[in-house]
Amino acid sequence: MPDTNRQWLLTDRPHGQPTLDAFELVEEPVPEPGPKEVLLKTLWMSVDPYMRGRMRATDSYADYWELDEPMRCHLVGEVVESKHPDWEPGDIATERLQWAEYNVVDGHDLDRIDPDLAPLSTFVGVLGMPGRTAYFGLLEVGEPKPGETVVVSGAAGAVGSVVGQIAKINGCRVVGTAGSDEKVDWLTDELGFDDAINYKETDDYVAALEAACPDGIDVYFDNVGGAITDAVFEHLNEFARVVICGQIALYNLEEQPTGPRKFRMVNTHRLRIQGFIVGDFSNRNEEAMARLGGWVTNGDIQYRETVTEGFERAPEALIGLFEGENIGKQVVHVADVED
Ligand SMILES: NC(=O)c1ccc[n+]([C@@H]2O[C@H](COP(=O)([O-])OP(=O)(O)OC[C@H]3O[C@@H](n4cnc5c(N)ncnc54)[C@H](OP(=O)(O)O)[C@@H]3O)[C@@H](O)[C@H]2O)c1
Repeated sequence: MPDTNRQWLLTDRPHGQPTLDAFELVEEPVPEPGPKEVLLKTLWMSVDPYMRGRMRATDSYADYWELDEPMRCHLVGEVVESKHPDWEPGDIATERLQWAEYNVVDGHDLDRIDPDLAPLSTFVGVLGMPGRTAYFGLLEVGEPKPGETVVVSGAAGAVGSVVGQIAKINGCRVVGTAGSDEKVDWLTDELGFDDAINYKETDDYVAALEAACPDGIDVYFDNVGGAITDAVFEHLNEFARVVICGQIALYNLEEQPTGPRKFRMVNTHRLRIQGFIVGDFSNRNEEAMARLGGWVTNGDIQYRETVTEGFERAPEALIGLFEGENIGKQVVHVADVED
């Protein structure tokens, strides 16, 4: 056991795109677990777009991060010391904890992971929060029906890639937008998307969507917002559902733009536009886990991960999300299970 525990602190509130100087790596003694607590060694960390919102001191559905405090993330860890009766060294668990190599946590708050079920990194990806976001957002909010056309933006990311595949399982025509030819090829050649648009190589999103969606769009799963979303509205069918999952194109903007006002169309086409937060469905996490796990096991859902090696590179991995560097889920590999 090392003497020191490294942590990442947020030391500045970024304006626009976050840069490395907003973060500071510090060392402290490895914390001691108290009664009912365990010491958890971080194995895999998740970095996610929502973290950009936590850096901004504004009211939202969750508390923002205080300056000079450790940030938080979903992680998978190994119990290395336990003072809780349910946990013993070697057990694997997941929880949202500090960006740190070691966390002390009340054993009651941890979720157990069976390491024989799937690779550990998947519990912060396809079998973790992003997978559940895709599952509940598409099925409960989007309500896709067989034969309908589903468009998903940010389609080659952690959430989007799973959304498209669940839509295929449900018998839909699926079109994705993503930011490189490699991503587009992955969607169409390997994940079974019917079509995909590289938005960085497309001047006219309205025309590209018209070509890809000859029968219009019935469900739009929006991870991105901005100009892509404006173009999708041109093709929404009557009674279409728009699922607002995220708006990553807006996260680094200092002023929120006003897009085309489509509310007359919301009226005439009887559209439903609904935002959601994955935690709204937390009482059904086990159901999502069972179904996602089944689809991963039988091959109906494939996944990919972009792995950044080393705890010290976590901020780099986070910033990369806003530059489209990841294909599939962006994870940080911190350590391996102890021998
Ligand atoms: N509602 C919820 O509870 C919930 C839960 C989880 C995630 N989310 C949201 O879901 C979305 C996807 O999250 P994720 O974890 O799956 O991330 P991700 O898609 O794996 O990673 C982010 C991707 O966003 C794209 N992107 C970055 N900047 C962009 C821009 N300016 N315009 C268009 N695309 C841009 C990049 O891909 P390209 O190469 O394609 O640009 C990048 O790879 C985010 O908006 C996130 O906030 C919501």
